[in-house]
Amino acid sequence: MHARSTALDDPIHGAFYRKVMGDPTKEGVTSKKGKYPVCLRCHAPNAAIRKTTKLDAKPAFREGVNCVFCHTITAFKGTEKPDGKLRLGQAAYEVSKTALQAPSGRNYSTLPESEDETPVSKPFHPFPMEGGSAIVFRTNAVCMGCHDRRKNFHGVPLCATGDEIKESNSQVTCQSCHMPMVDGHASHSMAGGHDGNMVRRAIAVELDVRDAGDNLSAEVRVRNLLPHKFPTGAPFRVAYLKLAAYDADGKLLWQNFKTHPLKDDSQAALVYTLGDKSGKPTMPPKATQVLGDSRLKPHEVRRLEYAIPKAGVKVVKAEVFYNLLLPKLNKKLDKVLTPELKAPTLAATAEVRL
Ligand code: HEC
Ligand code: HEC
Ligand code: HEC
Ligand code: HEC
Repeated sequence: MHARSTALDDPIHGAFYRKVMGDPTKEGVTSKKGKYPVCLRCHAPNAAIRKTTKLDAKPAFREGVNCVFCHTITAFKGTEKPDGKLRLGQAAYEVSKTALQAPSGRNYSTLPESEDETPVSKPFHPFPMEGGSAIVFRTNAVCMGCHDRRKNFHGVPLCATGDEIKESNSQVTCQSCHMPMVDGHASHSMAGGHDGNMVRRAIAVELDVRDAGDNLSAEVRVRNLLPHKFPTGAPFRVAYLKLAAYDADGKLLWQNFKTHPLKDDSQAALVYTLGDKSGKPTMPPKATQVLGDSRLKPHEVRRLEYAIPKAGVKVVKAEVFYNLLLPKLNKKLDKVLTPELKAPTLAATAEVRL
C-alpha cells in the first residue's frame, strides 16, 4: 500500500482526496482553509517536500511512500511541535539530501576496514550510503511520522496507532510484525488491512456453549493479539462477530444479526464511530465528536454473551469478519471499488458441536 499510497493509485484514498482537497493532477490545490493539503505529507511525501500538488508531474511524486523517501530519513523529530500543534508525515522527519540511509549501522560510502571484507561500496553502490541511522530504522521512529496520530480539521482524532502502542506499553517494534525476515532480508510487504493473511494473524476467537434450559448459553471471547487496536488505523475499518446456530443438516436456525451488527447487534461490531454536532454518525472529514469506540484495545479479551434457542441445534459457529470500509461507504464508493476491496475477510473462527 505504500507504493499505491497516492490519490492516483489508491481508489479509496483517491475518492476521499478528490472530495476533501481536489484534483491530484492539478497544481495549486489547497484545503478549504487555503493551506497545502496535509494528506500529501504522508500519502505523497516527495511531492510535499517540493510543495507541489501535481502528482503526475514526476514518478517520485506518484510513487508515494517510496524507497528514497524512507531511505533518506536521518531522524524523527516527533509529531508534536513545541507549541502543541502537529507536524505530520514528511514534516516530522529530518531527511538527508545527499545520502541514502541504511539500517545496517555500516557506512557504505567508506572502504571496507579489513581485507577479507568484499569491497561492495564502489562498484555496487553508485549512491553515497550512510549506515549510521540504525536506531531510526530498527525502531518505531521510522514509522511514527505517518502512523502516530492524525486529527481532522475539527480536531477530532482519526488514526492513532502510535498512541495505541504507547498505551499498551509494548516494546515490540512495528518492523517485527510488518517487516518480517524473508530469505534473509527484512520484507517490505508491510501487510495490513488490505491483506487477508495479515488480518488473520490479528485475533483469536474462543467459543463456549452451555445448556441453560430452553436456551443454549454461548460465550464468545475475541482476543486481540496486537499491541495496537483491532482494527487500527483508518477510522472507517470495521470488524464484526457472526454467531450462528445450525441443525444436523447445516440449516441455519438462529443468527445474532439480520442485516449487519451495526444495525441489529451493536455489541458484535468493533468500530470507531464519529459524529456531527447533533450526534448523528458522520464521515471522518465532517466529524466534530467521537460517539463511540468499540474496537478491541491492545491485547484486550472481549467477552460476548448470547442466549440461543436450543431446539434442534447441533452446531454453533462464531466467525469474526473484517471490512476495509463501513457498509455505508462500501455502497457510496461502489463504482470505484473492486470486489476484493468490498468483500469481508474471515479473520477468525471457532465452532462447537453438540
Ligand atoms: C516505509 C519505509 C520504507 C520504504 C518505503 C522502504 N524501506 Fe527499505 N527499509 C525500511 C526499514 C525500516 C528497514 C529496516 C528493517 C529492519 O532491519 O528491521 C529497511 C531495510 C532495507 C534494506 C535492508 C534489508 C535487509 O534486511 O537486508 C534494504 C536493502 C532496503 N530497505 C531497500 C529498500 C528498497 C529498494 C525500497 C523500495 C522498493 C525500500 N527499501 C523501501 C523502510 C523502508
Ligand atoms: C511517509 C509516510 C509513511 C511512513 C514513513 C510509513 N508509512 Fe505506512 N503508510 C503510509 C500511508 C500513507 C499508508 C496508506 C496507504 C493507502 O492506503 O493509501 C500506509 C499504510 C501502511 C500499512 C497498511 C497497509 C494496508 O493494508 O492498508 C501498514 C501496515 C504500514 N503502512 C506500516 C508501516 C510501517 C511498519 C512503517 C515503518 C517501518 C511505515 N508504515 C512507515 C505512510 C507511511
Ligand atoms: C504483534 C504484531 C504487530 C505489531 C508489533 C504491530 N502490528 Fe500493525 N498490524 C498487525 C496485524 C496482524 C494487523 C492486521 C489487523 C488490522 O488491520 O488491524 C496490523 C495492522 C496494521 C495497520 C493496518 C491498518 C489498516 O487500516 O489497514 C497499520 C497501519 C499498522 N498495523 C501499523 C503498525 C505500526 C505503525 C506499528 C508499530 C508502532 C505496528 N503496526 C505494530 C500486527 C502488528
Ligand atoms: C499523518 C499521516 C497522514 C495524513 C496527514 C493523512 N493520512 Fe490518510 N492514511 C495514513 C495512513 C498511515 C493510512 C493507512 C493506514 C491506516 O489505516 O492507518 C491512511 C489511510 C487513508 C485512507 C484509507 C485508504 C485505504 O486504501 O483504505 C484514506 C481514505 C485516507 N487515508 C485519506 C486521507 C485524506 C483524504 C487525507 C487528507 C485530508 C489524509 N488521508 C491524510 C496517513 C495519513
